[in-house]
Amino acid sequence: MSNAAMPKSLLGIEELSASQIQAILERARIFKPVQTQGRKMDRLKGKTVIHLFYENSTRTRLSFELAARRLGADTTSITAQSSSVQKGESLLDTLNTLAAMRPDAIVMRHSASGAPHFLARHLATTIVNAGDGTHEHPTQALLDAFTILEHKPVLNGLTVAIIGDIAHSRVARSNVLLMGKFGARVILCGPPPLLPPELKELSPCVSLCHSLDEAISGADVIMMLRVQLERQNEVYVPSTHEYFQYYGLTLDHMKKAKPDAIVMHPGPINRGREIAAEVADSPRSVILNQVENGIAVRMAVLDLWIGPPTQPDPEKTMQPQMNADERR
Ligand code: CP
Repeated sequence: MSNAAMPKSLLGIEELSASQIQAILERARIFKPVQTQGRKMDRLKGKTVIHLFYENSTRTRLSFELAARRLGADTTSITAQSSSVQKGESLLDTLNTLAAMRPDAIVMRHSASGAPHFLARHLATTIVNAGDGTHEHPTQALLDAFTILEHKPVLNGLTVAIIGDIAHSRVARSNVLLMGKFGARVILCGPPPLLPPELKELSPCVSLCHSLDEAISGADVIMMLRVQLERQNEVYVPSTHEYFQYYGLTLDHMKKAKPDAIVMHPGPINRGREIAAEVADSPRSVILNQVENGIAVRMAVLDLWIGPPTQPDPEKTMQPQMNADERR
């Protein structure tokens, strides 16, 4: 059963109010030390979370699994490649089969935009969208907001430049929707074929530009995106070299950016394509902080959607787990 303050399923940022987003970020702040200190809680003891991934994933899938385990849930994972999808089973039949096993939540990623929304209408189980096609990636936008707020006092008034393959990016879409709810300004930047003019209609907070220099000047947050070749059925970018020349973020660009601007990337990063290695590894990059925060934010999501209605008490944790270095 979902928490009364939240919808039954987490399908997108679009369906969440600013106060619901705030509640998720506040809970993630409670869980962050539990995660960083390697402690475990029993908030989801007796609950089962199934992770169903129809598309590849490193960060989202692992961090959801770790988040569920940190909270004491039983978890299991299934990919399309290793499932009976390969034998022709439909999406709805697959999900009905999983639902019959009585999980408390199904975390799913699918290449079709709207797939989790379709399933949420047909199943009683809580569905958590871990990325649907080019539509939304809500937990990525939540962890991005959480990471930004570790460096900036508020989102209101910030300028966030999102640069790259905007047309195919669910991350850009979810971030635009979230930033718009908190009074931030978003500049979407990319080559014309990857920046269709209708993106302007996403939110009144959006403006479009084709110049990387223009996008980053005055930006508080520079969010680089990968060119999503797997979603392109025609050639939009002539070559890696040419793309990098116009849209690759380099140390020279960073000299022109605000001195306190942070660099983000949802990953996976393609060094030398959309971001220079020296920028990805620089002190201004918070890319690995985003990865780390992904666990705390996903703990918050699972706890708020399928956990007990009480506030978590971070003192009520089990013994720290030994990390890999200590075990050796
Ligand atoms: N950011 C993100 O969704 O990464 P993965 O595809 O590795 O999950």
